[in-house]
Amino acid sequence: MKRDFQQGNVAVITGASAGIGLEVARQLARQGARLVLAARDPALLERAAAECRGLGASAIAVPTDVSHRSQCEHLIDRAIQEFGRLDTLVNNAGISMHARFDELDDLEAVDRITAINYLGSVYCTFYALPHLKRTRGRIVAISSLTGLVGVPTRTIYAATKHAMAGFFDSLRIELKRDGVSVTVIYPGFVATDIAERAIGPGGKVLGRRPVAKHAAMPVEECARRTLEAAGGRKREVIMTGRARLGLILKAIVPAAVDRMSERAIQRGR
Ligand SMILES: NC(=O)c1ccc[n+]([C@@H]2O[C@H](COP(=O)([O-])OP(=O)(O)OC[C@H]3O[C@@H](n4cnc5c(N)ncnc54)[C@H](OP(=O)(O)O)[C@@H]3O)[C@@H](O)[C@H]2O)c1
Repeated sequence: MKRDFQQGNVAVITGASAGIGLEVARQLARQGARLVLAARDPALLERAAAECRGLGASAIAVPTDVSHRSQCEHLIDRAIQEFGRLDTLVNNAGISMHARFDELDDLEAVDRITAINYLGSVYCTFYALPHLKRTRGRIVAISSLTGLVGVPTRTIYAATKHAMAGFFDSLRIELKRDGVSVTVIYPGFVATDIAERAIGPGGKVLGRRPVAKHAAMPVEECARRTLEAAGGRKREVIMTGRARLGLILKAIVPAAVDRMSERAIQRGR
């Protein structure tokens, strides 16, 4: 991580009880950050906080459902109460969807994914912003490659990730004079359990992994590159070479990128 990320920095991480968020918390803990961890399951979250304390960090668990505005406000209030400042907000909490749009029975999943992935990030950022302006802090947003291109069976998920990109890219410009940086991360497949928890056909939790875990990026690498980019106040990270190529092709032969996207989902990698 760049030296710019100083020891003792206070970071709020959403979705910190598992996957990428938990690994970001571990890596920040090793750097001596002070951590405020958020997710819904209180037991798992407390376990994550205890692990971070074991790595030498100060860490508190604040059970939070980011789809509720009042809980996001409480999360940021608790961070300020505990540590008196806020340097970094990592908007990471998210759920996925693995179903064609015409396989949904109703619109409940649409509301749920939108409220967690997109609105949850906006709510946390809203309440954190005055504090981040004071410290000339950092905002990190974990989008996805589905935030850059269309992906079949991910319609609503991709829409929330496109929405995150639109919000955070715009906010970055607004915050230039305030010295608050905005780093948007676009991972491809990362080896976490997100697919098992994804919403499947009929709006039910999938409970299985249609993605080849061995072909996914290790979570440690994803977290490390995320923190390096945030430390260096980079605007974005597109995490795979295939995605960077896809974006160039999208401007020239967009239908070819549609085919690449369809094939990636069929192969699970
Ligand atoms: N893994 C990938 O392949 C991949 C690729 C691209 C982008 N991403 C993005 O990376 C982020 C993290 O994904 P992951 O793979 O690490 O997922 P994960 O392993 O399923 O972890 C998700 C985390 O988010 C929390 N969470 C879920 N709903 C929440 C809510 N309403 N409020 C607060 N916390 C909530 C979960 O805890 P609780 O359930 O206890 O709340 C958990 O801590 C997501 O935004 C995802 O879209 C992942």
